[in-house]
Amino acid sequence: MDRFVVEGGVTLRGSVEISGAKNSALPVLAACLLTEEPMTLHRIPRVKDIRTMMDLLVHMGAQVTDTGSGPVAVTAGSQLRPEAPYEVVKTMRASSLVLGPLVGRFRRALVSLPGGCAIGARPIDLHMRGLEQLGAKIEQTHGYIEATAPNGLQGAVVHFDRITVTGTEDILMAAVLANGETVIENAAREPEVVDLADLLTKMGARIEGAGTSTIRIQGVKGLRGAEHTIIADRIEAGTFAIGAAITRGDVELAGCVPEHLGALTAKLRQAGVIVTETAPDKLRVQGGGPLRSVDIVTEEHPGFATDLQAQYMSLMTQAEGIAIVSERIFENRFMHVPELVRMSASIRIDGRQAIVAGPRKLTGAHVMASDLRASASLVLAGLVAEGETIVDRVYHMDRGYERIESKLAGLGARIRRERS
Ligand code: EPZ
Repeated sequence: MDRFVVEGGVTLRGSVEISGAKNSALPVLAACLLTEEPMTLHRIPRVKDIRTMMDLLVHMGAQVTDTGSGPVAVTAGSQLRPEAPYEVVKTMRASSLVLGPLVGRFRRALVSLPGGCAIGARPIDLHMRGLEQLGAKIEQTHGYIEATAPNGLQGAVVHFDRITVTGTEDILMAAVLANGETVIENAAREPEVVDLADLLTKMGARIEGAGTSTIRIQGVKGLRGAEHTIIADRIEAGTFAIGAAITRGDVELAGCVPEHLGALTAKLRQAGVIVTETAPDKLRVQGGGPLRSVDIVTEEHPGFATDLQAQYMSLMTQAEGIAIVSERIFENRFMHVPELVRMSASIRIDGRQAIVAGPRKLTGAHVMASDLRASASLVLAGLVAEGETIVDRVYHMDRGYERIESKLAGLGARIRRERS
């Protein structure tokens, strides 16, 4: 398993190009299953989870053309096997995003139940209940979900007990070909949901209210092919923004969407970081001044993103005072804490809260990544720690950050990958 060796004491300076959003590209690739016509997708990030999703589409019998850069072409013809096997789903739980489109178009889906995950149980009960409300019959046997709708799905009111991003996306993709109107209540408002709705609309779907808590869909008979460019990855952008702040640097985030980073920007400014919108798709982040401790609570968008919690915690180890980090979305998303403590951070966990005392001089150590965003927090801490930090299991990072070491090195970081 690869590992990163990070030299501490650097200052990140310069401009970094933000890639397309992994968490938009995943549902967008799944949406290609809704039509037999060719689809062309631009700004697909070449990261592990995307390759997994493309392999899954090919496994079902779709044609996927990916030259490694530039647009990706997908054609999901009518001779498709609507099945997602355990071998694939166990490596990426977002494979459950194929449920909605498969039942919607093929009236049947056989998808392996995703197993547990490091950050929490992450069931997909809300996805399945939503499909049942649309008339699908759901059976769970031998670790698989079999969803069938022999007469097609029927539009209905689908109310989510709790907000779920991929649950909203799954039901949105199921509803676009259902008979009649569907109303999704308590829908997720993430930008990735809006990006998916934009693509579906280009394909001929009739959707209103994406980005709000209530989405209204009029089912149509069929969808055509379309061309689409994925939105910028707000979590990658936020990660680099925190990198600029923690190293007291000066970094331009090029090709980002500033309004998708509103919650983080507000907290960084409160903490004493200068964040300036220098163009509609550019943010400049300047650290260097005194850093103040500021509390966060992770919430559904437009609240503070849980996917930036670990990275923000690394920053708070350098801030003056006590910062309380509350994780409200996942039940076990503090696995980076013991690793940061091994780097001399002062953090105490109390249930769903982590209390971070600063500033603390971090010292480089041999640490282990446990999930995608925890690995980012450890690399960020390594940039500012004294000496060398070795981060094991960086395959977690490769799942969601495109060319991360070359982007960081381009900003002045001293980081190298060791294949072990
Ligand atoms: C999406 O996961 C993202 N992944 C996650 O990003 C992100 O952390 C999460 O949303 C929250 O923002 C993708 O978009 C591919 P949820 P998702 O359903 O949809 C519970 C990353 O780092 N829940 O919004 O799986 C669930 O356990 C990843 O890129 C149920 O109980 O998250 C969680 O506590 C990590 N039953 C909460 O809801 C369900 O059926 C929110 O989960 C579904 C969810």
